[in-house]
Amino acid sequence: MRPQNYRNTILLSALLLFCSMPIIKAQEAAAKFSLIPYPTSLQAGKGSFILQPTTTIVTESAVFKQEAEQLNRLLKQYFGKPFKVSATKKAMAITMRYSAAITAEEGYALTIEPKSIIILAKEPAGMFRAVETIRQLLPADEHPGKFATKIALPTVQIRDQPVYAWRGLHLDVSRHFFSLEYLRRFIDRMALYKFNKFHLHLTDDQGWRIEIKKYPKLTAEGAWREFNNQDSACIVKSKENPDFAIDPKHIVVKNGKKMYGGFYTQEQMKGIVAYAAAKHIDIIPEVDMPGHMMAAINSYPFLTCNGENKWGKLFTTPICPCNEATFEFAQNIFTEIMEIFPSKYIHVGGDEVDRSSWEKSDECKAFMLKNNIRTTAELQSYFINRMEKFFNSKNRKLIGWDEILEDGVSSTAMVMYWRSWVADAPVKAAKNGNQVIMSPGNPLYFDNEPDQNSLANVYAFSPIPTGLTAAEAKGIVGAQANTWTERIPTEARADYMIFPRMTALAERLWSDTHDYTSYMARLIQHFPRLDALKVSYRLPDIAGMAEQNVFTDYAVLNPQKPLKNITLRYTTDGSVPNMNAIVLDKPLTINKASYVRLAAFTASGRRGDIYNLHYKQQDMAAPIVNVMAAKPGLLCDYYPGSYKSSKLMAGKPEAVYTVNEVVVPAEAKAPSFGLKYHGYLDIPADGIYSFFFTCDDGGILTIAGNETVNNDGWHGPFEKSGQAALRKGLQPIAMDFVEGGGGFTLKLKYSVNGSAPVEVPSDWLKN
Ligand code: ACM
Repeated sequence: MRPQNYRNTILLSALLLFCSMPIIKAQEAAAKFSLIPYPTSLQAGKGSFILQPTTTIVTESAVFKQEAEQLNRLLKQYFGKPFKVSATKKAMAITMRYSAAITAEEGYALTIEPKSIIILAKEPAGMFRAVETIRQLLPADEHPGKFATKIALPTVQIRDQPVYAWRGLHLDVSRHFFSLEYLRRFIDRMALYKFNKFHLHLTDDQGWRIEIKKYPKLTAEGAWREFNNQDSACIVKSKENPDFAIDPKHIVVKNGKKMYGGFYTQEQMKGIVAYAAAKHIDIIPEVDMPGHMMAAINSYPFLTCNGENKWGKLFTTPICPCNEATFEFAQNIFTEIMEIFPSKYIHVGGDEVDRSSWEKSDECKAFMLKNNIRTTAELQSYFINRMEKFFNSKNRKLIGWDEILEDGVSSTAMVMYWRSWVADAPVKAAKNGNQVIMSPGNPLYFDNEPDQNSLANVYAFSPIPTGLTAAEAKGIVGAQANTWTERIPTEARADYMIFPRMTALAERLWSDTHDYTSYMARLIQHFPRLDALKVSYRLPDIAGMAEQNVFTDYAVLNPQKPLKNITLRYTTDGSVPNMNAIVLDKPLTINKASYVRLAAFTASGRRGDIYNLHYKQQDMAAPIVNVMAAKPGLLCDYYPGSYKSSKLMAGKPEAVYTVNEVVVPAEAKAPSFGLKYHGYLDIPADGIYSFFFTCDDGGILTIAGNETVNNDGWHGPFEKSGQAALRKGLQPIAMDFVEGGGGFTLKLKYSVNGSAPVEVPSDWLKN
């Protein structure tokens, strides 16, 4: 599904086409055409085509009728009325033309010249992607208060087609429910960035969100809950950030009780499917089983082996694969799901199954004996394989999370890879002949709190894992980002988590361009567009901020604004900065212990992340002078075991390694472990050094005997920062790190005197 030689062919044909055009330079082009994803090839010309109400849209082939309507709907927003549509050639027109030379389904060529706009495509999907490119060339505000009489579109030749066939986003509508209107807006934004797969996680322990006519209690009961512990956690957080407040539009009173939730009727969901289909986006439904079924089992308790429905150590009781009634139920559900969702791909879930109730069940013991199934892992495969046969009998393809690989899955199932810590899973799957969608937790779980590195991490993500031949790599059909919503109760919070990260993934998957500087320059130009679309995106970071700051005499806080039209505001009394807080419009001098809370605000009052800046006086640490012949590298004590805090490691380590970089030693292979690094940093010059410490799960950095960064506790890859006042020479470092299971990240960067943060170099590490 991934064309290998396309890029060369297209470049050659683009070059031939472009010879006749007056050309402007590539950098100027990237600045002028702030397209995301950047097209496969773009050649800017001189001059422009003037769109005006007399412009005609010519659809030479009826196959593009719907795309002409989409373009016209867009233009109407700017001009107040639709353009004329004609099936015959016209001067000064936008012509949508069939071309067999465009080989990719989603490919197109767009030529804007002063007297014509011509779009070539072979399929409606390609024509639609071209319309979305034009959308990005139009002014940012799609609903301007005043209608235009003329809009100039710059002269350009674009040839474009995606590198990856699967460019997906996922949304968990179970943990918190999202409105139909939000789903439509979500689809619209996906279309803007050329995504084509929208995976809806429709059911889970906390809520069943899709009407199933045969089992009405699934939604009558399963779509509603009293506030659970996740909701309570959100309510606590809402005191500082209103985006965490439970959305009142999803609260109802039932039988005198306040209930929270909601569901989509089949008719409503068919409307969403049609809305997405018009934008050439498939909706991939997921009904997660055999685990994650608590909401269903509550109403249909016959589904479990022992009638129980409770939380185990990590997961809930699954449905019972040893009982025909379970299959009848599952098949009935998927039959209705297939009637709503025409997608070729249907997701069965298959993740995180606690099999202990199967192990204890007499029914399962007998069933396994009879069917020659040796383990409950095999029993799980039996369930998935049987569901796959059912899907195939309906001409659909099964997708499952990568656990479905564990005890044998057919090579025809599609595998969605998520467990970053099982690095070889996608490699094994691709070698087994399975098609694989990459959605590794790091960096593609967008429910992980974003920090100043998240965008770059997504942009740098490579969908093809190492260890595959070129032929095997074709099994990697693309990637998607997943947004689990346990801690995302509102649309504004979902926007914040997803934007602008999704634009980095869009570029990676569509054009596989590797120019982060150019991407960032283009992204800045997208923020007004996102503002106009009312996307509550995460504002860009204020560069160079450390949380724990030190000064010898005084510090000066003088950050650069990350966007022109924002205001920086701060408090010094510990209160949350709001629109009444003091504006930071000149350097602020700090000469006593202080707590400054700083945030960026848009003109409309939307707040960016709060920077909690602690300041304290610290004398310059004198270096250690009596270290005889320090050796290269840091020492690293290894403590296999589960440590929820890095303070809990104690006693004698199992082993001591030497590392020449700040990395987890390859020998640390236990599922969970702790590491204590110690030695010296060879500091090159006196200064106030900022250290940026990223941990997944947690860690504490101590320099010259002072706790510099506390990033402890189990969490996703998240950066925290602090400063140390250090004299030139060897300075003691102690760095504790814990990995609780599920994959780790450990990074240590520094900056000094406002320099850009870079990794602490190997030649600084001594012991
Ligand atoms: C998953 O995150 N449990 C697929």
